[in-house]
Amino acid sequence: MAMEETDILSAVKTNEDEGAESNLRPKDLSEFIGQKKLKDNLSVFIEAAKKRREPLDHCLFYAPPGLGKTTLAHIIARETGGNLRSTSGPVLERVGDLAAILTNLSEGDVFFIDEIHRMNHLVEEALYPVMEDFELDIIIGQGPSAKTIKLPVPRFTLIGATTRAGLLSGPLRDRFGIIEHLNFYGFDELKRIVLRSSRILKINIDDAGASEVAKRSRGTPRIVNRLLRRVRDFAEVKSGGRITEKVAKDSLEALEVDDAGLDRMDRFILTTIAEKFSGGPVGIDTLAVAISEEADTITDVYEPYLIQSGFMARTPRGRTVTENGYQRIGMKKPKSAGKQDDLFGPGK
Ligand SMILES: Nc1ncnc2c1ncn2[C@@H]1O[C@H](COP(=O)(O)OP(=O)(O)OP(=O)(O)O)[C@@H](O)[C@H]1O
Ligand SMILES: [Mg+2]
Repeated sequence: MAMEETDILSAVKTNEDEGAESNLRPKDLSEFIGQKKLKDNLSVFIEAAKKRREPLDHCLFYAPPGLGKTTLAHIIARETGGNLRSTSGPVLERVGDLAAILTNLSEGDVFFIDEIHRMNHLVEEALYPVMEDFELDIIIGQGPSAKTIKLPVPRFTLIGATTRAGLLSGPLRDRFGIIEHLNFYGFDELKRIVLRSSRILKINIDDAGASEVAKRSRGTPRIVNRLLRRVRDFAEVKSGGRITEKVAKDSLEALEVDDAGLDRMDRFILTTIAEKFSGGPVGIDTLAVAISEEADTITDVYEPYLIQSGFMARTPRGRTVTENGYQRIGMKKPKSAGKQDDLFGPGK
């Protein structure tokens, strides 16, 4: 995606993140900041599974990008003492690809499938008996003489991650024993992540500087870490390396990140709905065309935070800009905005 090069606030992982994230990634649950309820639950499930000497139930994590799904998969493997095998939905093209991985697993391993909603349906169906009974059905031969043999698979934990729980089929979803949603992080948690990452990267930052970075990172650890690295660059070049409130503010302004964490694209989306569609509602596909972006990218990457922070709303008839959204882009909400529904009758 083109935005990966330019968009500092994209929650989608870039190549630069790839290298930088590995030493910032929390290694166990105690280092994993925030998501308290999820952590509490997981640690109970992990302990119970250990006591029973069984692998942890299959887990499904769903959340927008950059909130910690992959990190949790690593942590679970570490805490349960299994090896981690990672792949992703689109990579598993054939049942044979799946079989190759499964037959190499050992008892208690963790098999992580990222973007599990993008798995081929034949692979998905082959996964059902594996998840339930640890048996892979292999079809040998063709036509009437074809035979199914059942290949036993070591008992392992499947971890699926998805940004789009809605795209997962019911049968697949039902086979996960543990289904958890990760929420956007609050300001205090983001600040703790900034301070933790600064310690690890030996970045000199003061409290107000950390607050400033946290405030603008749209609830997302990946973005907090990325902004921190960029602000450090400014600090090193312009102010002897120390990140203060002023340094953070100036550099984030230079990066066109506003104090609610919105960037150019977010503001463009709000302005487009406000100006071209009288505040909405506008359907996602129409909006996608208007801003030359893919509908999926809007749904996965931009919209969750805009909705969560109350700048945009999703209605049955499409997206609208809220009162707060208008304020954010320096416009006043016209009285008629968002009222197109009235033409078709009240009560929607
Ligand atoms: N709870 C957390 N505490 C501290 N750091 C975190 C936390 N969650 C995520 N991070 C940081 O954010 C980075 C991104 O997290 P991660 O790769 O797990 O996101 P993801 O949900 O898998 O994203 P994607 O949907 O793009 O795969 C990690 O490398 C880690 O440094
Ligand atoms: Mg991931």
